[in-house]
Amino acid sequence: MQEVILITGANGEVGHALIPELAKSKNVVAITLDINELDDTLKPFAHEVVIADILDSSIIDNLLTKHSVGTVFHLASILSTGGEKNPERAHQVNVDGTNALLSSVNRVATQEKRAIKFIFPSSIAAYGLPDLETKKKIQRVKEGQYATPITMYGVNKLYCELLGVYYSKYYKLLEPRPEGVLLDFRCLRFPGIISALTLPTGGTSDYAPEMIHSAAKGQGYESFVRPDTAIPFMVMPDAIKALVGLTNAPKEKLTQEVYNVSAFSATAEDIAKLVNNVFPDSSISYKPDLNRQKIVDSWPTDIDDSKARSDWSWKPDYDINSAFKNYLIPEIRNKYK
Ligand code: SER
Repeated sequence: MQEVILITGANGEVGHALIPELAKSKNVVAITLDINELDDTLKPFAHEVVIADILDSSIIDNLLTKHSVGTVFHLASILSTGGEKNPERAHQVNVDGTNALLSSVNRVATQEKRAIKFIFPSSIAAYGLPDLETKKKIQRVKEGQYATPITMYGVNKLYCELLGVYYSKYYKLLEPRPEGVLLDFRCLRFPGIISALTLPTGGTSDYAPEMIHSAAKGQGYESFVRPDTAIPFMVMPDAIKALVGLTNAPKEKLTQEVYNVSAFSATAEDIAKLVNNVFPDSSISYKPDLNRQKIVDSWPTDIDDSKARSDWSWKPDYDINSAFKNYLIPEIRNKYK
């Protein structure tokens, strides 16, 4: 049986890696949706390419029913730095867009009496630590701790996590519930993601990928955070592994809807050193932007992903050293050669 998958924000960084991965399975039919044109490199993997605003419910309702969509990867989002430039727009895309999609998926799943998986990437930005002292003391934050984000993006992600749980378990609480779970909401809180193939747009963990890509292009880099700034990271293949792993996990194994996933925690200096080992001519300097620094200082040094490990056997393939040696450096060299 072929599985129809709708990917929103398909032209973004995660979409660029997820879509070719999904296409490896002959049983998957991918429908992509993005406000921008889909890159030519991705088009061969898509059965149908839709260019539309995430807020356009009629297009989404139509896609869900016409194709009998079984899984939605809702990747469309405005990240933390972009969100601070235009918080109202970020709220529209991140919250109104997610609510419209959840509502459509819920409506179609209920009408057609079938389960639809809704996979939602959340973020370390959903956390907000009060100060650096607390950040140093609490090394690995659990899902239920410090849910006090300071950015519009973090606030939006945290609220949408709750909204997903609401649609999935409590929608119209006063009425009798249909049998079983129809909107099957599953969410990952991602660390900063580093891809060898693409660069993020408008995030605040961007100093790490920017440092590596600049060095590979033979350019210097001025980091907008202090060298001692530590947050969790993972490389893109592990992010895709986590998305696919959670999507395929048997429902009965899942004890919560929202899971932390992490691979390694690193300071900006740790990353700079690894970059310098390979590209000794790259000069990395530090000129902290106080406001962007404030954002990363509110994010935890690492997140505790033990629930993901025990519930659905999550395990990253890469630590920081193997990420550089076996993925980032060879792929980036190849990209810029
Ligand atoms: N990479 C994201 C950002 O920097 C965090 O999820 O906004």
